[in-house]
Amino acid sequence: MIPRKKIIAGNWKMNKTQAEARILVADLIQEIGRFDDAEIVLCPPFTALAAVSELLNSVTNIRLGAQNMHEAASGAYTGEISAGMLRELYVRYVIIGHSERRQYFHEDNATINRKTKAALAAELRPIVCIGETLPEREADTWKKVLETQLHEGLAGFTDKEIADIIFAYEPVWAIGTGKTASPAQAEEAHQFIRKTLANRFSSAAAEKVRIQYGGSVKPENAKELLSKPDIDGALVGGASLDARGFTAIIKNACL
Ligand code: PGA
Repeated sequence: MIPRKKIIAGNWKMNKTQAEARILVADLIQEIGRFDDAEIVLCPPFTALAAVSELLNSVTNIRLGAQNMHEAASGAYTGEISAGMLRELYVRYVIIGHSERRQYFHEDNATINRKTKAALAAELRPIVCIGETLPEREADTWKKVLETQLHEGLAGFTDKEIADIIFAYEPVWAIGTGKTASPAQAEEAHQFIRKTLANRFSSAAAEKVRIQYGGSVKPENAKELLSKPDIDGALVGGASLDARGFTAIIKNACL
């Protein structure tokens, strides 16, 4: 089996102006501009993409991601951004179906399916987010929830397409709450996701797929989480807004 390279992405959410983004990225380039043990992705808000893209020109190991996109190539979709617009700025990854998009912007599995297809067609690597809410965890229905998200979100996909997707398991109850799934809980969910993918597609594709954990990842818990065999990276929110914290997560997780 080919080892899966760890992938650590920072999801800045609706934080950082262009000026603030420049400062953060300059610091990150100093700290991790040569770090090659993991794939590193920064996902600033749309308005900071161009500025960050320009700064990342000088390094090869930190890549650019977006937090969302629309599935259409162009048209009358006020306020939306297409894959082509992202590609023009050298964006290579795009987060799809983050739980905040599901919750506040009513994105459902069918929308996420279309966006993921459109991202792959444009040669953007989708980071597809799935995860259960607290009531679903407490009612022990989390497996069913993940299964449905995968089943509907990936309807009509091929083996080859699946292998190009990065999944992010983000239990909603752990996002921005300071509560983290225990490494054992996270590993159990990641194994379940890989098994579900192997059943629906091929085990070869499921083995290739990288699954990130997300939800209050911090320098203190990164190592233990990412040392689990099925946890292939992290999607980091709050702690990615600070150069030292994000650097510490990457180094703790990978060294
Ligand atoms: P958090 O966010 O690290 O602030 O919990 C993670 C995410 O929403 O991707």
